Amino acid sequence: MVLTGAGISAESGVPTFRDALTGLWEQFDAEQLATPDAFERDPSLVWGWYEWRRARVSAVNPNEAHRALVQLEAARPQTIVVTQNVDDLHERAGSRNVVHLHGSLFAPRCACCGHRHVLDAKPTMEPDGGRRIEPPVCTACGGKVRPGVVWFGEPLPAGPWSEAQAAASSCDLLIVVGTSGLVQPAASLPTIARRANASIVVIDPRPTAIDAISTYSLRGKAGQLLPRILQEALISA
Ligand code: OAD
Repeated sequence: MVLTGAGISAESGVPTFRDALTGLWEQFDAEQLATPDAFERDPSLVWGWYEWRRARVSAVNPNEAHRALVQLEAARPQTIVVTQNVDDLHERAGSRNVVHLHGSLFAPRCACCGHRHVLDAKPTMEPDGGRRIEPPVCTACGGKVRPGVVWFGEPLPAGPWSEAQAAASSCDLLIVVGTSGLVQPAASLPTIARRANASIVVIDPRPTAIDAISTYSLRGKAGQLLPRILQEALISA
């Protein structure tokens, strides 16, 4: 099992949340942008911000770390990638067994009736993420379409969360890549794996909350370390 966070996409050019200076939550107020209340209060601000994020993600490509996980899946088809990321870089790299715990920038739905909305146009790039854009109107009920991501105060989608828990409690190795391990309940997955006697390898340039229970904590960038350790592990196996 591999648990990924924003750090795996950092070398593609997608900002993380909590890195000093560059993290999204260092520059933007989560309370104004990533809660159900925020969307009710100011839907065009929230929709515009997520469109800006979709534009950023659409403009970049998967990196060596995403590609290394595709190789891992090819060698070990039972591999499952559980990601907290709302980008599609694992899929675009070629990973097939990907579980999204926090939803996706590419799967908006109606805030009233839940009807899926199909995004047609590629969003245009804005430098600062501050542009208001009116959310689309639901074709089924006329309600406002919202981003298909999990906001603060919302539960995780039930299916992905139970798949992730099942994987954590049955894996023999959990590789944790590029997450601060500060957001629950995703951050509890390593504890579940540990209790099930899995080895835990953390890859991150900075200390994380998961280091305390890891078997090995490797300090460095995912795009450099992940291809190296996976290649060595797969060659020696
Ligand atoms: P964070 O921003 O909290 O943590 C990103 C981690 O990536 C940090 O530990 C960085 O040190 C590390 N990092 C930075 N560059 C890296 C690189 N090149 N290679 C490897 N690691 C690198 O992001 P997450 O832990 O993903 O939730 O955040 C978890 C959740 O908090 C997100 O899914 C989002 C956010 O609020 C929701 O929006 C629901």
